[in-house]
Amino acid sequence: MAPSIVVRDVLDREAVRRSVDTALADFLAAKARTATSQPQLGYLSGLLQDFMAGGKRIRPLLCATGWYAVGGGEDPRSVFQVAACLEMFHAFALIHDDVMDNSDTRRGRPTVHRTLAEHSAGRRGEEELERFAHSAAVLLGDLALTWSDELLHEAGLTPVQLGAVLPLLNEMRTELMVGQFLDLDATGGLTDDIEATLNVNRYKTAKYTIERPLHIGAAIAGAGAEAMAAFTAFALPLGEAFQLRDDLLGIYGDPGTTGKSRLDDLRAGKNTTLTALALRGADAAQTARLRSSLGNPLLDERGAADVREIFEATGARATVERMIDERHRQALAALEDSPFPFAPDALAALEEIAHLATVRNS
Ligand code: IPE
Ligand code: IPE
Ligand code: MG
Ligand code: MG
Repeated sequence: MAPSIVVRDVLDREAVRRSVDTALADFLAAKARTATSQPQLGYLSGLLQDFMAGGKRIRPLLCATGWYAVGGGEDPRSVFQVAACLEMFHAFALIHDDVMDNSDTRRGRPTVHRTLAEHSAGRRGEEELERFAHSAAVLLGDLALTWSDELLHEAGLTPVQLGAVLPLLNEMRTELMVGQFLDLDATGGLTDDIEATLNVNRYKTAKYTIERPLHIGAAIAGAGAEAMAAFTAFALPLGEAFQLRDDLLGIYGDPGTTGKSRLDDLRAGKNTTLTALALRGADAAQTARLRSSLGNPLLDERGAADVREIFEATGARATVERMIDERHRQALAALEDSPFPFAPDALAALEEIAHLATVRNS
C-alpha cells in the first residue's frame, strides 16, 4: 500500500480504486505464490484477477465514504482493506449470479464459466463441458467468498472494530443470498406485483450495494445507531434506484458500455419492476405478446424490439425513470434532513455517489 495515503483520499474515487486494487492485487499475488504446492491456484487466482480488473468499485467507495462521513480517523488503510473484502464478496456474487442466470457476458468479457469452458474445450463433450464450466465457476466463486473473509481478517482491525463489523457483514451476506433466492424463485412465472419486485430488488441489490458498505465503513469508525439509521434512510431508496437503473440498462443499455447482453433478462423471463408495470398496463394483445416473449430462451433481437416497444407503449419505461428520479430525490432529502451531523464534504461526496448510481450508463 502506498505510504502517501491521506484521509482525504477516501472521498477521491480514483484514489479509492487505486488503494483497493492494490490490496486485491497484493492478496491475489500472495495466493498465486503458494501455487508451488498447488499449481492450479496460479490459474484460479489469475482468473479472479482478470475478472476483478473490471467494475465500478461503488461498494468500496461507499465503505470509505461511510467511514469518513462519521468522523473516520487518522489512517484509512484498514478501511481500504475492508473495502477490498467487499469487492471480493461482490466478485463472488457476480460469478455465481452469471452461472445462475446462464449469462455469457459480464464487464465486457466472457463470464467466468464461459472462460472456463473455453479453457477446457476439446477435452470434453458438450454437455460435460457445460457441467464442468458451471461447477468450476461455482468453486471460483466459493474461493472469492472465503478470500473475502481472509481479507477482512487481515485488515488490521482492532477487536472492537471487528466486533462491530462482523454482525453487519453477516447480515449483508444473508440478505444477498435471500435476495438472490427470491429472484430465482420469481423467475419464469410473470408477475404484475410491483411491490414484490421492489422487495427482491431491495434484498438482492440495495442492501449489499449501498446500505451495508456504508454501515460497515461507519462501524470501523465506531458509529452509533443514529448514524446507521441516517445511512439507511439514504441508502435504501438509492439502492432501489440503482437496481431500477440496472433493469433499464439490461433492456435498453448499450452492451458495449454495460458489458452485459440486452437479451439475458428477457430470455430468462426475469421479473423486474419494468415487466410488472408493463403487465399492469398492457391490453390483451400486448399481454399475449409479453407472455410469449418473456422467458423465451430463443428470443431474438426482433422479438426483443417488440417487447421494448410494449414497455414504451404501456408507459412502463417512463414510470421506471420516474421511480428512479423519486428515489434519487428521496435519498438526497434524507441526507438534507439527517439528524446526524455529517460533515459538509461528506455530504457532497454522498450526493455525488447518488448521482453516479442513478444517472449511469454502465
Ligand atoms: C452489478 O453491480 C450487479 C447489481 C447488483 C446490479 P455493479 O453495477 O456494481 O457491477 P460492477 O462491479 O460495476 O461490474
Ligand atoms: C448480478 O448482476 C446481481 C447480483 C445481485 C449479484 P446482474 O446485472 O446480472 O443482475 P441480475 O442478475 O439481473 O439481478
Ligand atoms: Mg441474477
Ligand atoms: Mg444476472
